[in-house]
Amino acid sequence: SKMFTYDPGFTSTASCESKITYIDGDEGVLLYRGYPIEQLAENGNFLETCYLLLYGELPTAAQYEDFASRVTRHTMVHEQMNRFFSGFRRDAHPMAVMVGTVGALSAFYHDSLDIADPFQRMVASIRMIAKMPTIAAMAYKYSVGQPFVYPKNSLDYTANFLQMCFSIPCEEYKVDPVLSRALDRIFILHADHEQNASTSTVRLAGSSGANPFACIAAGIACLWGPAHGGANEAALAMLQEIGSVERIPEYIAKAKDKNDPFRLMGFGHRVYKNYDPRAKIMQKTCHEVLTTLGIKDDPLLDVAIELERIALHDEYFIEKKLYPNIDFYSGITLKAMGFPTSMFTVLFALARTVGWIAQWKEMIEDPSQKIGRPRQLYTGATRRDYIAVEDRV
Ligand code: CMC
Repeated sequence: SKMFTYDPGFTSTASCESKITYIDGDEGVLLYRGYPIEQLAENGNFLETCYLLLYGELPTAAQYEDFASRVTRHTMVHEQMNRFFSGFRRDAHPMAVMVGTVGALSAFYHDSLDIADPFQRMVASIRMIAKMPTIAAMAYKYSVGQPFVYPKNSLDYTANFLQMCFSIPCEEYKVDPVLSRALDRIFILHADHEQNASTSTVRLAGSSGANPFACIAAGIACLWGPAHGGANEAALAMLQEIGSVERIPEYIAKAKDKNDPFRLMGFGHRVYKNYDPRAKIMQKTCHEVLTTLGIKDDPLLDVAIELERIALHDEYFIEKKLYPNIDFYSGITLKAMGFPTSMFTVLFALARTVGWIAQWKEMIEDPSQKIGRPRQLYTGATRRDYIAVEDRV
């Protein structure tokens, strides 16, 4: 029989070929379809990035217009979807609501379940990208006890999402263009990251021929964990717990202590052994947002900056190549924008949906892909005979 390679955590196993995202973790490089993340975040917008990830090229003006209008056509969710929300307790974590409601989409859009048809795959992709902001905003509105706000298709993708989250029917609401641009940039930074845990989950689920909505729901479930997408929430909670610059050394010592399970949340990455290029852009965006909102002395930001400074000069972190990752500054930024911490991972899921769906589509269209089926090294009991219950000791 075949010999198996033992590779826990898949640190040295390539599960697929992909043309979507390139990472050089030693150099701190991230490219979407060859384009540096810095250039896309600086000059591009999220919807254009979606097109790029899905189709491999930046759209022409006409292609962009067509794509944007196709996405806007699908921003509504079936009215009956509302009832799914009311089944959840008000205090349910919005990620729990996301796993359930996104999974439920497969019960509403039966035509998109025909994954053998390229046209239907395209429609399913567009539907997912279009509906995620609506569902995410509904999860938020439900959690705060406010009425759902319908999408407004005259607004751009991100402004529309802000509108669905923060407007209330009885008041005029105007989207702040600086905040909308900042959030759009955050979405670009989170759009894809090659074969991370949630993307691998989506591919594995999809490899059996499962429908795209179910696959994305699986990705959302995986993303929720604090070692992955849940880290932005955990990072902010940690900054709040530290609370003041004076207490940082205590936490640095805890993080270094082998007998203490505490880790600096927002630090370290499986692939980046250098500064996470997304963290740099995130740090800049964070400053812009705080300035726009007139937040001058945010104690959390002070703690973050000082923590980063100390860690970057600390032997332990240098030796283990632990740098701030994307989640380190995103929490402060999102909090300043008015999102509760429980929504942070939801926003990550919203943005990563395009990466998940692009990777799913690439997999379905790759003739060499088989059902994902890892093997194991069995370390359990050897063969033994059944013992009747009265004879067991
Ligand atoms: N604080 C303190 N020590 C750390 C940290 C940290 N944040 N991260 C790793 N280490 C240590 C770890 O204890 C280990 O030490 P030793 O070799 O003595 O046992 C060494 O560094 C290597 O860590 P590892 O867990 O083997 O590395 P990994 O590649 O399996 O883990 C990670 C990567 C991101 C899960 C981890 O760095 C971590 O838990 N970071 C905190 C959570 C976090 O910020 N996650 C967000 C990741 S980026 C966005 C995303 O993927 O969603």
